Amino acid sequence: QELQINLEQIEKGGYDHFMLKEIYEQPSAISDTYRGRIRVAEGIIKMAGIDDNLAKLLNAKRIIVIACGTSWHAGLVAEYIFEELVRIPVEVEYASEFRYRNPVIHQDDVVIAISQSGETADTMAAIKLAKERGAFVFGVCNVVGSSISRETHAGAYTHAGPEIGVASTKAFTTQITVLSLIALKLAERKGTISNSDFHYYLQELERVPEKVKIALESNEHIKLIADKYKDAKNFLYLGRGYNFPVALEGALKLKEISYIHAEGYPAAEMKHGPIALIDEQMPVVVIATKKGHYDKVVSNIQEIKSRKGKIIGIVTEGDETVKGLADHVIEIPETIEFLTPLLTTIPLQLLSYHIAVMLDKNVDQPRNLAKSVTVE
Ligand code: G6P
Repeated sequence: QELQINLEQIEKGGYDHFMLKEIYEQPSAISDTYRGRIRVAEGIIKMAGIDDNLAKLLNAKRIIVIACGTSWHAGLVAEYIFEELVRIPVEVEYASEFRYRNPVIHQDDVVIAISQSGETADTMAAIKLAKERGAFVFGVCNVVGSSISRETHAGAYTHAGPEIGVASTKAFTTQITVLSLIALKLAERKGTISNSDFHYYLQELERVPEKVKIALESNEHIKLIADKYKDAKNFLYLGRGYNFPVALEGALKLKEISYIHAEGYPAAEMKHGPIALIDEQMPVVVIATKKGHYDKVVSNIQEIKSRKGKIIGIVTEGDETVKGLADHVIEIPETIEFLTPLLTTIPLQLLSYHIAVMLDKNVDQPRNLAKSVTVE
């Protein structure tokens, strides 16, 4: 018994929970994901699964992403990245809906299946269906040799290392990293981005781990915010563009481990419903980074403020406008727009973590949830 406890403590590497350890591992997990694949000076991305199937991927008329849970959120981020950089239409589907819907699949569709565990039953079944109908299926998995990594035609691993906490953290940011690499590689080959942009984006990607470290330095400040709102019954998370899926993911993290009801919404949709819920009891987490519809988000913040909602803004370093309006701001370093999810996600992970710890919940093994869902 005692030996067991000690072993677990060693595995946690000095952190109180696996989740916290995994949150802090993100700078190295992200660089492990691109290291060995990019050569910034030469402007090269090497990924065997992409190189070996380049023609198929470049000629895809459509990309269909299938996934569940947090991986589905990474797929949504990928939709924005692929459409922007590669100009291929993307659809993002819950694997469980896709498989039971008699979906239209063409020979020139490329399916990207995203799964941390590589064992999710619905994702697996959706892959089999897509293969039967002639699609090329590319896997993005974390667990090497997992069922999904074997079932797909080709793939790229995330190299996040083992993720133990049920609430996914480093798997999400490394999925976004791999998907960004794929998009950049295809965009460069297709000529949908300029050579100089390609080089610049690679350089910026290489700066992300340092910036994640800076984002993690807000931990103590986030703890204070967590303490203030831990007893709230509901939370709203808002974001636009690349940060809309991050809002969904932030809400999911809070639900999963603290059991507080939370909803993520595209900020502009607030007026079509959620605004009715806003009063002085409602904390609203708004992702309001400088790039990406900043002015629009600021006006959403004003709408929340006039209804007395409590505003927690995730902002770019040095932001003054949101600081003047929000009850709290958490700063993240500036980066190019499509990479912001890698930074805006960090404070949301920490916020849910601290709330769950303060509420004395089982952070690493929340009730009713499983790390990998191998049943329907
Ligand atoms: C479960 C886990 C989630 C995960 C989802 C999909 O619900 O608790 O963290 O996002 O399954 O899992 P996968 O392994 O396919 O990414």
